[in-house]
Amino acid sequence: MAINITEDKRAEIRHRADIVEIISERIVLKKAGKDFVGLCPFHSEKTPSFTVSPGKQIYHCFGCGAGGDVFSFMMKYDGVGFSEAVSEIARRYGIDLPTRSMTPQQKKNISEKQLLFDINHQVMNYYRTQLADRLIGETAREYLQQRGFNRKVIDEFELGFAPEGWDKLIHFIRKSNIPLSIAEKTGLIIPKENKGYYDRFRNRIIFPILDEKRRVIGFGGRVLDDSKPKYLNSPESPIYHKGHSLYGVHASKDRCRETETVFIVEGYFDLISLHQHGFTNSVATLGTALTVEHVRLLKRGFARKAYLVFDSDAAGVKAAHRSIPIFMDESVSAAVVVLPKGYDPDSYLHKMGAKAFQEATDHALGMIDFLIESAVLQYGLTIEGKLRILSEISDPLSRISDSVTRSIYIRHVADRINVEEAAVAEKIRSVVSRIRQVKHHQDNRAQNPPKTESISRSCSSPTTSDDLRLEKQIVSMMLKYPKILPQVEKSGAMNYFQDKDLKNLGQMIFTRTSHDENEFSDLMNQLEDDVLRQLLASLAISDECWDQKSCENLLFQFIQSQKRKRQPLISRIKAAEESNDQELLLQLLKEKQEQAVTR
Ligand code: GTP
Ligand code: MN
Repeated sequence: MAINITEDKRAEIRHRADIVEIISERIVLKKAGKDFVGLCPFHSEKTPSFTVSPGKQIYHCFGCGAGGDVFSFMMKYDGVGFSEAVSEIARRYGIDLPTRSMTPQQKKNISEKQLLFDINHQVMNYYRTQLADRLIGETAREYLQQRGFNRKVIDEFELGFAPEGWDKLIHFIRKSNIPLSIAEKTGLIIPKENKGYYDRFRNRIIFPILDEKRRVIGFGGRVLDDSKPKYLNSPESPIYHKGHSLYGVHASKDRCRETETVFIVEGYFDLISLHQHGFTNSVATLGTALTVEHVRLLKRGFARKAYLVFDSDAAGVKAAHRSIPIFMDESVSAAVVVLPKGYDPDSYLHKMGAKAFQEATDHALGMIDFLIESAVLQYGLTIEGKLRILSEISDPLSRISDSVTRSIYIRHVADRINVEEAAVAEKIRSVVSRIRQVKHHQDNRAQNPPKTESISRSCSSPTTSDDLRLEKQIVSMMLKYPKILPQVEKSGAMNYFQDKDLKNLGQMIFTRTSHDENEFSDLMNQLEDDVLRQLLASLAISDECWDQKSCENLLFQFIQSQKRKRQPLISRIKAAEESNDQELLLQLLKEKQEQAVTR
């Protein structure tokens, strides 16, 4: 791990940063007692098991085990390295970082991205002034007006105009002293075959694409007539990835958060229309199919329910079909709004108004119903049609993880196409078990790569789940009730620990100088290993309350059980006989038998 930021600086950043604030900028957190909870961004879940402790400045997910401090959250969530996470947080809290503390590559990456954002920002303003220009922007303004867009949304979405000509933007870039070779990376200008550049966007309405932090990541541009191509978009760049970005997030995130719902459309103008008509919790995909990253972006940010408003033509229906499995896998509920033939969201809103659109969304079909109805429409209800409907619907149905919900839908499908419920259930069961088999196989492979080692470990002295539980409890008690530390040390409990990670943590806790809750993150910071950090977070965040008596009991219990284990089997059998512990006796006899066999 390359850490070039001084210890002092890191301490300053850590003390200034607030983990609750940083995480709530990314996912919805609700207060629960002294902690905050929310839906875990790192695995798919319906009930919140992701917990953030403001006191300890750590997070932990009881579902998937992810955990750590504000830095490890940023690393995991934003997919960045440690140094980048530290610098991002420093920036967020206005703490100056000496750039010399970064590696040359980091400096280059950060400053390059920042530079591209800056260029895009200046260019956005340039296009806006062109749209506002009395002469140059006239036709574009008329076009927008004739399509029914008002000043307010034009300003809010910072729409602009790229004038006619091959080098208008190039002039502006030159005048602004921006090197053309760098501007090229934004895709705004395109190198000619021999020498020089030309403007990508010419004679087009410009839609700046802003991310949730209002940074300008790219642009879209539409012609003013029927010429082709109708739209142009920025190419992928270090700051623009269309599969991860949604148009309009900057203007919709607050309302999405409030309503926990989001409308998803396909077009720039569809999106702006929705905003103009008051549906401000809306975003648009950018000329690309919806991806799992899009859904995660929405889920992390806020939305629990999505309305897919696609065109009612075949392509729109196909897009809905493709998107549904993504929502199901991410446990985000979705409904499909089907508009009357010939309309897209923009034309429908402008022609029929907000009330009619609201009614259409009120009649939106849930994902499963949408699939059933479109299959019925496509295949009809003949015997053959029913078979095809069943085979089309069984995969999505089998993705429903909750068995009660699944059985409700099974009955629903059976009723709708008039076949025996048992037959539908049987069909789904076979799909579910096939998926399980595949998944089981994958999990096994992922979890136990060093097979030989795990076998040999389980044959020698086995760490039972009971041992592990006690070891965990001891470390957790050491964290929460530091007064007990001298006794733990004296008892030598740590020597009995079989879990290497827990033992490491325990030993680090002994060497801790301060036991102030606020200094907890220092301990976190000593840990280089992500697994250890997760473990520490999970132990620190557990709800147990410790007092002197319960600590002593735990220690005593643990040491007794360890001593017992280390006695020869034969004397343990004797002891079990004497205490008349039939269950233990049976287990020990079995152990003895196994030993006899393996010898
Ligand atoms: P309007 O005709 O202006 O109302 O546009 P629309 O949004 O209704 O267009 P359409 O439904 O045809 O396209 C939806 C989205 O797909 C657009 O907003 C663009 O993002 C993208 N798109 C459409 N046509 C093109 C094209 O020719 N090239 C590219 N790259 N993207 C396109
Ligand atoms: Mn349209």
